[in-house]
Formats: sequence, structure tokens, C-alpha cells
Amino acid sequence: MVRTAVKVLVNGYGVIGKRVADAVIKQDDLKLVGISDVVADWRVKMAQAKGINVYASLPEKVDEMKKGGVQVHGTLENLLRDGDVDVVVDCTPAKVGAKNKSLYEKYGIKGVFQGGERHEVAGISFVAQRNYEDALGKQFVRVVSCNTTAICRVVGGLHERLGVSKARVVIIRRAVDVWESSRTGIMNTVVPELHIPSHHGPDAQTVIPSLNITTLAAKGSHNLYHLHMAMVELKNQVRVEDVINVLESEPRIVFVSGSDGVEGLNSIFEISRDLGRSRGDLYEVPVWYDSISVSHDGKEVYLIWATPNESNVIPENIDAIRSITELESNRFNSIKKTDTSLNVIKKLY
Ligand SMILES: NC(=O)c1ccc[n+]([C@@H]2O[C@H](COP(=O)([O-])OP(=O)(O)OC[C@H]3O[C@@H](n4cnc5c(N)ncnc54)[C@H](O)[C@@H]3O)[C@@H](O)[C@H]2O)c1
Repeated sequence: MVRTAVKVLVNGYGVIGKRVADAVIKQDDLKLVGISDVVADWRVKMAQAKGINVYASLPEKVDEMKKGGVQVHGTLENLLRDGDVDVVVDCTPAKVGAKNKSLYEKYGIKGVFQGGERHEVAGISFVAQRNYEDALGKQFVRVVSCNTTAICRVVGGLHERLGVSKARVVIIRRAVDVWESSRTGIMNTVVPELHIPSHHGPDAQTVIPSLNITTLAAKGSHNLYHLHMAMVELKNQVRVEDVINVLESEPRIVFVSGSDGVEGLNSIFEISRDLGRSRGDLYEVPVWYDSISVSHDGKEVYLIWATPNESNVIPENIDAIRSITELESNRFNSIKKTDTSLNVIKKLY
């Protein structure tokens, strides 16, 4: 039986929403109905310029958006009521998704929330490589944050294959997203998060409950990517080659190397632009090959990676849609389909 394409609406066309919308357009089993938002600035006008239908997320915003020069095709609620949407990918700012949930429930629409929402909003926190099957057929799912996604890919992969007894990850976060660097951010300092553990460790446990992990975080004064430094104790002795083999076989992880001149986050950002990716997006998590080390007793692994915060969760959003709509029941098939469509690769250069 040939299934018709799943109809997807992206609510909130910011950093994550615009990338999810573009990724949905690239899937042959999904159809982008449009996007909805509450503003009429250049970002939403960009959607219109690309030929994407724009809707108002709140009825009281229709006039304002029209006055701002956006051709509003209707309201989000009317669209949901008329049965024109199967799945809403809610990419509104943190905590707004929780408020939107009752609207999706009212019309029996499936929803994908983002990492800014609490785990309880969806009840299932999702990283495709780790727990795709848990979300099959569910009404709601939450794609975890960029940091948690990276931890679940790298440390989760080591845990599944080598057995992690204790992981500690130190995160140097970017201060602000590029588009809003003119509004906020910090300069010439590093600001530690004094609550320990930072929320990222407990968040990773919502995806991998058996992972013993503690995270510490600080905010840097840059605006490109996050940097993660990990110390991972294993249940058994390993060699560097064992760690490399695991990471080589994990989807959406790539290696970069200091010996190739990849000196910092800036080098990786330049590589992503050289690849010709839209917006210089990197869906993969780049691990510094030369950072991978093992302690003398072979029971602790050290490694450093970059977390491309604007884009690494985009493939997970596509897989999350496939899982909750049961378009595909096997994680590897969905990951492969998503990665082929987005040109996710195993070797950056
Ligand atoms: N920015 C990142 O690096 C990043 C990475 C991973 C996950 N996330 C998560 O993704 C979600 C979205 O973050 P973002 O960075 O894309 O935010 P953003 O601020 O870039 O975009 C949010 C968009 O939602 C719109 N909006 C605001 N209120 C709305 C409402 N009531 N209804 C509909 N639209 C509304 C805004 O106008 C804006 O276009 C958050 O949960 C965040 O934690 C962000």
C-alpha cells in the first residue's frame, strides 16, 4: 500500500524551525504544509520568499503580521481544525511549546517538541540512534537539545558498545545564536554554570536511563557551536582503536584532526561552509581524532568534540516525525533515509 505523504507544519520559524522546514521539504514521505509564527520580520519574510505558506500561530497576530507585509494564509488553529496537518513540529522558544500542547491535543494532532521543553511535556525524549522505537506511534515526542543529542550520540554509543560505568562531560557553550548576537551575549569572559550537575547530564538520562553521567557547563563569549570535553570510565579495558571503531560505526559522528589544521570551532565552521551546506550547517558531531586517548589502565577514555548547536538536531526531528507517524518502524532505515536526503556524511574532507 502506498502511503500518502505525512503533512507537517512547523510552528516557530527561528533557528531550529527554518532548518526543520527545509529538511522536511527534502523528504519524499513528508509534505511541508507551511510554517506559522507570531512576527513579520525578515526571517518570516524569508519563508514567504521561498514560497512557503505562512500562518499566524495566534489569531491576535494576524493583523500585525499582515501590516508587517506578510501574506498570512490563515491561523494555526483553523489549519489544525480543518485536518490539513498530521504533525506539528513545535520550534517555538523554550516553554512556549508546553503552552501549545493543549491546542494539538484538542485536534488530535501529533507533535514534536524541542529541547527547551521539559521531558514531561512529551513523556518521551528522543535521539534516533538511541531510542527511535520508544516513540513509535506516540502522539508526542521531544527531540532533546543540541548538547544532549551530541552526548547521547557519542557517550551513548560508547555506553551501548563498550559499557560506560561513569561519564563526566564539561561543556563550553556558545553565548548566543548568531542571528541574535546584536541583542545579547557576553564578551571577553567565561561564565560558569554554578548549579552542578548542569541540566545536560540528567537530560541525557531521559534518553538513556542507564547512563551514569555528570555534566558541568560554562558559557563562553563566542557564538559558533558548543565544545564538549569528556572523561568516560568504562566497565572493561579498551584500546584507542576500540573507541575509534565505535565512533566510526555510529551514524552522525565524524572525525576532524588537529594534525589537519582543525584547531578550533572556527575551523569546523569553515569546513561546514566549504562543504556548501545550506547556512553552513553541520548535522554531524565532529570528534577530534587526535583527542581520543585512553588511561594507562585502559579503563578511562578522554575525548573532545564540537556540537553544532543550530543544526545537529535537524536529522533527529525528521526521524522523530517518522517514528511517531510509524512511517518507518526501523531506526536504521529512517536514519539512512534522513541522512541520504540531507547529505550527512562520515568523512568531512
Ligand atoms: N538555537 C539552538 O541552538 C537550539 C538547538 C537545539 C534546540 N533548540 C530548542 O529549539 C527550540 C526553538 O529554539 P530556537 O533557537 O529556534 O528559537 P528562536 O528564538 O530562534 O525561534 C523561535 C521562533 O518562534 C517564534 N515564536 C515566538 N512565540 C511564538 C508563539 N507563541 N507561537 C509561534 N511562534 C512563536 C519566534 O518569532 C521565532 O521565530 C527551543 O526549545 C530551543 O531550546 C535550540
